[in-house]
Amino acid sequence: MPRQPILPLVLDRRKDASLQAQLAVGLKALIRSGVLRPGAAVPSTRELARDQRISRNTVIQTYDRLIGEGYLEAAPRRGLFVSAVLARTSPRAAARTAPPRLPDAVDRLDAPVPFRPCQPDVRLFPLRLWNRLRARVLRSNGVHLLHYQSQLTFGLPGLRRSLATYLRESRGVQCDWRQIAVTNGSQQALYLLASLLLKPGSRVLMEDPGYLGARAAWMQAGATIEPVAVDAEGMRIPAEQRVPAPLVYTTPSRQFPTGACLSLSRRLALIEFAARNKAWIVEDDYDSEFRYSRPPLPSLQSLDTSGRVIYVGSMSKVLVPSLRLGFVVLPPPLVARFAELRAVLDDHGPLIDQATLAEFIESGALFTHIRRCRSEYARRLDALVESAQRQRLPLTFPHTDGGMNLAGFFADPDCDDEKHARRLRRAGFDVPSLSHYSLQRSQAGLVLGFTAFEAPEIRDSIRRLGQVLSRRQQGAGRVA
Ligand SMILES: Cc1ncc(COP(=O)(O)O)c(C=O)c1O
Repeated sequence: MPRQPILPLVLDRRKDASLQAQLAVGLKALIRSGVLRPGAAVPSTRELARDQRISRNTVIQTYDRLIGEGYLEAAPRRGLFVSAVLARTSPRAAARTAPPRLPDAVDRLDAPVPFRPCQPDVRLFPLRLWNRLRARVLRSNGVHLLHYQSQLTFGLPGLRRSLATYLRESRGVQCDWRQIAVTNGSQQALYLLASLLLKPGSRVLMEDPGYLGARAAWMQAGATIEPVAVDAEGMRIPAEQRVPAPLVYTTPSRQFPTGACLSLSRRLALIEFAARNKAWIVEDDYDSEFRYSRPPLPSLQSLDTSGRVIYVGSMSKVLVPSLRLGFVVLPPPLVARFAELRAVLDDHGPLIDQATLAEFIESGALFTHIRRCRSEYARRLDALVESAQRQRLPLTFPHTDGGMNLAGFFADPDCDDEKHARRLRRAGFDVPSLSHYSLQRSQAGLVLGFTAFEAPEIRDSIRRLGQVLSRRQQGAGRVA
């Protein structure tokens, strides 16, 4: 008979109750709670005696007692089993042992369908190289990467140094590496910043339409969202001199989801606004590496002289999202309190992946990978723009110079874009509407992510998407 798993029984030799009595009570509790189900085999007397370090005789006597009480039954030459009669116990007892109703667990791994926004093409990720580097860091740092390393709440110093250099060279970010905290995706950074900087009722100024992950983090802290409209130059900076809001959230490189780039004059105005109001600016720089025609504007953080900008970044788009590697560059006054909170959450992030990423950056592989993605994604962007024109989609795309998504605006700014999105969903597409991301009425449109799909798939999907949208328009015309 295969060995049974060790039963979760705790016998305490200091107690007055005999080991036999404790064993009987423990076994009955396991049966009543459903850990040992009716019909299940119990461990052999030899196994249980060995697992619990008690005499076999104690187990034999306990089993005899439970047989007598009807909890166990013997099957000749097969062993001892939990009595099947217990399956027919009273409904109340059955309810006690029935598993609670829990939401259905999804046991399937998803892949994005066209045109789900913000999805990198994970097939471009150099997995074999990554695994080689992973094996190398394990060989060289070996066992140290496996221990708890509670002093490394902010992540491996080697990675933080590499990130500081990378951010300075590619985004102009000015910081000491000790200001960088590695987080589990940028979402964890947003969540921690919300806990650190907001109180119930705090006001957060946020681009609208805007990133739902950020909105969820602010709302979780009990904040009130003040939607700020977005136009071709990005977020409109409030004209009022004084706005009592401790936090402003923005995606200046490419406004999510419209794709507008925050103009230099607005960047300067926003920094001044924050300094005047003693507000923190959270700059979410999630996909700035993907510029195809001209270099990106330097980060907001690089223009800030008053130390109000908190720079948040992610490896989800440049590498793969499931790594859950993000980071935040904290102004020095926030470092200690952020570290305290980060430690409460999960001590520190997975160190093997952090060490691998440090090697990946240091070896130059990150730049090679970004260059490869850039040229591939630029081709996909061209395929999307060309086929949208060829299919005469009823959308205009004002921002086509980079990123991972294109926001297409309908000619009628007030049409019901959510209806279009629902119709597309029924046809197998994943194309959210702009109003999906908005709290206030925004210009009607759709958001099309293109980076996860090869050019032929983009062309074919745009043709089919055009058919769905034109059916919709003809249908709408008939009703009118
Ligand atoms: C605006 C924005 N910020 C950040 C992220 C990245 O989130 P994470 O690093 O948690 O994967 C995304 C992903 O879609 C995003 O759209």
